[in-house]
Amino acid sequence: MNFSYCHNSFSVFLYWGIENPWNSIYIYMLILYLIVKEENMELKRQKTESCEDFSWTDYMSLPFTQNVISETLRMANIINGVWRKALKDVHIKGHLIPEGWCVLTSFISVHMDEQNYDNPYHFDPWRWEKTGAAAVNNNNFTPFGGGQRLCPGLELSRLEISIFLHHLVTSYGWVAEKDEIIHFPTVKMKKKLPITVTPVRT
Ligand code: HEM
Repeated sequence: MNFSYCHNSFSVFLYWGIENPWNSIYIYMLILYLIVKEENMELKRQKTESCEDFSWTDYMSLPFTQNVISETLRMANIINGVWRKALKDVHIKGHLIPEGWCVLTSFISVHMDEQNYDNPYHFDPWRWEKTGAAAVNNNNFTPFGGGQRLCPGLELSRLEISIFLHHLVTSYGWVAEKDEIIHFPTVKMKKKLPITVTPVRT
């Protein structure tokens, strides 16, 4: 496994507990996990104390968790590009795309471009603190596409991921089996990362 690139998936966040060799990557992932867990535990405590139900906007009150999700979507999105067919000759930035030709717009190329992101191969959720929320709504961040075909499931997806993570880190511990990250054609775990989940007392 290429350890420098292994930062690039949230799977590693799940994966850190497998062998626990205390090298820098695992310590880094452990710190990440603890920050996400603390932020989510705080929300859970508030809800328990106030006896309030969760509401639609609660997930937005988890800034670090949102940064982890954005960074994961940047580095390991399930859709790494989309195809477009030119219906007429298109001139763009000095290039001609002839009528009838297909073009692959590569999201991963945008996300891994050093002109768009410092150290693009580093899994760094803190980068979103520096750039602010506006950075997830611009042309350099395209996990959900853009323009007229922008994914309408954008917010729902973030909400679902947030709910999953909230329950996972606040209510469960887990042990993952040894697995390996595959990068091509999309990022995934070779054995789908089987994990044994156990409820924890909070
Ligand atoms: C992490 C999860 C998701 C990712 C990364 C994602 C990504 C994308 C991307 C890149 C496109 C643009 C495709 C193109 O331009 O050809 C798209 C389109 C679309 N997505 Fe998603 N999507 C996700 C979740 C969802 C969910 C949860 C829904 C519905 C509940 C959804 C519904 C759609 C629909 C209907 C389109 C077509 C929009 C159109 O053509 O006008 N997506 N998605």
